[in-house]
Amino acid sequence: MPGRVEGKVAFITGAGRGQGRSHAVRLAEEGADIIAIDICHDVEGALPMATAEDLAETAKLVEALDRRVITRQADVRDLGALKAAVDDGVAQLGRLDIVLASAGVASMGGPAHKMKVDNWKHTIDINLSGLWNTARASIPHLIAGGRGGSIVLTSSVGGERAMPNMSHYVSAKHGVIGLMRSLAVELGEHSIRVNSVLPTNVNTPMFMNDGTYKMFRPDLESPGLDDIRPIAQLMHVLPIGWVEPADISNAVLFLVSDEARYITGIELPVDGGTLLK
Ligand SMILES: NC(=O)c1ccc[n+]([C@@H]2O[C@H](COP(=O)([O-])OP(=O)(O)OC[C@H]3O[C@@H](n4cnc5c(N)ncnc54)[C@H](O)[C@@H]3O)[C@@H](O)[C@H]2O)c1
Repeated sequence: MPGRVEGKVAFITGAGRGQGRSHAVRLAEEGADIIAIDICHDVEGALPMATAEDLAETAKLVEALDRRVITRQADVRDLGALKAAVDDGVAQLGRLDIVLASAGVASMGGPAHKMKVDNWKHTIDINLSGLWNTARASIPHLIAGGRGGSIVLTSSVGGERAMPNMSHYVSAKHGVIGLMRSLAVELGEHSIRVNSVLPTNVNTPMFMNDGTYKMFRPDLESPGLDDIRPIAQLMHVLPIGWVEPADISNAVLFLVSDEARYITGIELPVDGGTLLK
């Protein structure tokens, strides 16, 4: 039986680990070839990023599924590097159908009026302008292919609601929704669909780190995962504290598959009901 994205090519940012890697593997399982990029070096003021070895591991996982994969180290703030990666990927793999903008950073920046300017700037640059760059590098290939296409911009439940001490992140993620809607309207005539996925807490390094544990349990000296579990669960309607990367990948797979062929311009929360609270 053919896969749900058989014969298609997907460009994925932030593919070195976390959700980006999970998307690469899930789409490869369903028959897609992958162009995978990641920054592979640290950004000042942000958590450690994926490494070159991480990106190579993503490639290994895709190849183990008998799919082709092209990897490049590229920063989503660098339009030239993104263009070079997509152009090269399309030259080698022959087409482009799917774009998944998953790269992102998160930090506790403190109250908005005290936030460091650099922290504000790099968060907006990566989490909002980086997605614009990803779209700009990809859209000409989608249009030239003449077969339509599908773009998913990763936002967050923070794209719909406030989170204290994260105004940089929340502003960027709200902005992603605006970008997604604008692109959906502009690209509809080419049968290119554009949607957003809105994850709650996900079991990736962005959420699973000492900073998050301390945010959930400021009362403890060195809190761990078990300490935050009951508090994280209170955020949700379903009895969970977080979801797995595969849960986001399955939602993304639906959005990019033909099953969603008339769905464009939507926000799809994968949030265990947290936006109801
Ligand atoms: N983990 C969560 O709890 C959570 C919740 C809601 C939304 N999100 C969003 O999901 C997306 C994926 O995050 P994740 O959970 O996989 O976290 P993660 O930290 O595991 O992965 C993020 C990836 O993006 C890469 N990256 C960061 N800056 C980059 C840049 N400038 N250029 C290229 N690559 C860059 C990192 O190296 C890393 O591989 C992000 O947009 C994030 O904001 C995450």
